Amino acid sequence: MILSARNITKSYPTAEGLLPILKGIDLDLDAGETVALTGESGSGKSTLLHLAAGLDRPDAGEVIVSGRDIGKLDDRGRAAYRRSDVGLVFQQFNLIPSLSVAANISFHARLAGRFDAAWERELTERLGLSQLLARYPEQLSGGQQQRVAIGRTLAARPPLVLADEPTGNLDEATGDAVLDLMLSLSKTAGSALLLVTHSARLADKLDRKVLLRGGMIAA
Ligand SMILES: Nc1ncnc2c1ncn2[C@@H]1O[C@H](COP(=O)(O)OP(=O)(O)O)[C@@H](O)[C@H]1O
Ligand SMILES: [Mg+2]
Repeated sequence: MILSARNITKSYPTAEGLLPILKGIDLDLDAGETVALTGESGSGKSTLLHLAAGLDRPDAGEVIVSGRDIGKLDDRGRAAYRRSDVGLVFQQFNLIPSLSVAANISFHARLAGRFDAAWERELTERLGLSQLLARYPEQLSGGQQQRVAIGRTLAARPPLVLADEPTGNLDEATGDAVLDLMLSLSKTAGSALLLVTHSARLADKLDRKVLLRGGMIAA
């Protein structure tokens, strides 16, 4: 088991009082497993991903990743967790504009102390980025930028990848191609993948689907 969420609850304060979003979530991911997290807009998918990423803490319950309760880590512990144990891919590509494609791709792997030149070469080839390594993010299309973001995340071979609608900014054909690459490369890297998508078609490509509804895992 790489990720184990146990009875997670999370509310947000609003003018009308506390708004409960997650009301007791249990979710397990095995090592290397790919799981699609689906649900209507506003159902709490991003909230759950942020908790798993250590970007926020649950009100109650446990988020165990690789045997550690990340909700109980202090700020430094959570920063270290994000540096070395988890990879994030969001809809915004979040590339570093002042770094070349090559430097963007190796950035997290170097921070995590897991730079591996042969794996990066395989990644850049399979992502179709070999001819673009000297370019800067602003010189790339959206699909190319997202492939760099995926390469940067997988270069470090994190045990867990969390992706929040990573192809949501791309047209359908480009998004499908990028997602296929991400799935196959996650498998090669041995990374488990929790992918938020509201596309049933994309969700079908993963090992398993879970549906978030009414603050609970419905299926
Ligand atoms: N920081 C926040 N403060 C208050 N409400 C929030 C905050 N983040 C999200 N919400 C609310 O929580 C609900 C779930 O949001 P979110 O997790 O982003 O849903 P999803 O990703 O499934 O669309 C929404 O109603 C949203 O408005
Ligand atoms: Mg969201």
